[in-house]
Formats: sequence, C-alpha cells, structure tokens
Amino acid sequence: MEQQILALLAAHPPVDGALLPLLHAVQQQLGHVPPAAVPLIAEHLGLSRAEVHGVISYYHFFRSTPPGRLQLQVCRAEACQARGAAALLAHAEQRLGCTAHSTRADGAVTLEPVYCLGLCASSPALQINERLHARMTPAKLDALLESEGL
Ligand code: FES
Repeated sequence: MEQQILALLAAHPPVDGALLPLLHAVQQQLGHVPPAAVPLIAEHLGLSRAEVHGVISYYHFFRSTPPGRLQLQVCRAEACQARGAAALLAHAEQRLGCTAHSTRADGAVTLEPVYCLGLCASSPALQINERLHARMTPAKLDALLESEGL
C-alpha cells in the first residue's frame, strides 16, 4: 500500500491546491485514505498532519477505513429531502443494521448520506456502487438490496 501512495505522491507535485486532488486519487485507488497515508501526504505537501487530517475528517466523502462491499449513498439534499429522503435513510439504517456514515460490522455495506446526485427532478434518489436509482421508495430499496444479497 505504501508503494501505491508513494506513486500517487510522485504524480501529484506539491503545488497550491494539490491536497484535495491527491486525497481523491488515494481514495479512488485504495478505496479509502488510510491513516498511514496522512504523514506521507503532509510531508510531501509541506503541511502538518493535523491539516491533512482536518480536511479528511471535514469532508464526509473521504473515508479513513475501507468501505463495505456495497456502498449505498442516499441523497439528503433539498429536493430529495422534500420527497422522503429522511424516511428512506431511516429505512435503510433499520434494514441494514448500520447507521449513516458507517460500515456494517460484517463489511457488507457502507451507508452514506450524500448531497445531490443530480437526479433532483426524479427524487428521492440514491446510488449503489456508483449506479443511480431515482424515484425511490423503501419497497424499491428493499428490492435492490435483495438483489444484492442483503
Ligand atoms: S437533491 Fe437529491 S438528487 Fe439532487
């Protein structure tokens, strides 16, 4: 893993504004930003570890632990919120047995609220492993999860 991180550092020169693109690249390649990457990134960009950690923890998009096999993202932005997103997320939490922003203990699923998936006119929307689903209901979500073996 360290070799992968070092290769990504080499591909991202230490210029102003390099932190976010670098964090995105690390998470895209490894599935998360491991704590061991923080000091390497900080040293590479001339930042403190606290600065790098602060950005990772501020943006919910970034994960410090590996995601579940299935990543379920439920939109909580305004259009979806107006059409039942809170109830949809609550249903997902109850059905899956994990809370928002967490990965179930067996590693099967990560549940994440997100803010706009670009399907506002067809809300409420959610995404499962980068596949978008519109006009969702708890029953439709149950069917999708069953098809994923959950
Ligand atoms: S508000 Fe949910 S997709 Fe835009």
